[in-house]
Amino acid sequence: MSNVFVLDHPLIQHKLTYIRSKHTGTKEFRALVDEVSALMAFEITRDLPLTEITTETPVMEAQTKVLSGKKIGLVPILRAGLGMVDGILRLIPAAKVGHVGLYRDPETLQPVEYYIKLPSDIDERELIVIDPMLATGGSANDAIHSLKKRGATNIKLMCLIAAPEGVDLVQEEHPDVDIYLGALDKQLNEKGYIIPGLGDAGDRLFGTK
Ligand code: PRP
Ligand code: URA
Repeated sequence: MSNVFVLDHPLIQHKLTYIRSKHTGTKEFRALVDEVSALMAFEITRDLPLTEITTETPVMEAQTKVLSGKKIGLVPILRAGLGMVDGILRLIPAAKVGHVGLYRDPETLQPVEYYIKLPSDIDERELIVIDPMLATGGSANDAIHSLKKRGATNIKLMCLIAAPEGVDLVQEEHPDVDIYLGALDKQLNEKGYIIPGLGDAGDRLFGTK
């Protein structure tokens, strides 16, 4: 089974509260999603491997550390995943970004893939799939299958809010994929929305309805 980590840093939890609030407008919602994404990225990159190098400071030579190991790729699930990209790129500016376009059919709740464009070397990268919401899990599950079909072997999933149903599906289908969450909510309602959740993440980010 994959590991599930709920990132309970106080700043993440505080900002999530305002992201959830129906009184938060588009501009503030966007800013908060950006900030929480950066904070979550800080937490999930804790285990990146380091290697020692020799650096000449103005005073003397020193043994210092730099990142080693696989390069990183971000894969936002369109549309709502886009709101998380810039916050993460502020911490990992050299990451490449692939896109998977999926929408959830409102009747069947099944994901429909309409776009995919990825860095050519995804098989050599540590990929972080990002989407604010993990509800039924259908979208994340499909996106991860798509990436694996194209050669990806090292994938993490990062979402702001998840329902247990979505976590269970991803764990069953992708036991190798660790899941990082800002919050794990109670359940889905009859329309497949996470409750209490935050509503429709894409609509709130982009001001649509
Ligand atoms: C939302 C969300 C996820 C998906 C989660 O996207 O951003 O991608 O639903 O639901 P699931 O776990 O049941 O698949 P939506 O389909 O509303 O598309 P959008 O991002 O274009 O608004
Ligand atoms: N997609 C959303 O944007 N919100 C939910 O609660 C479920 C799926």
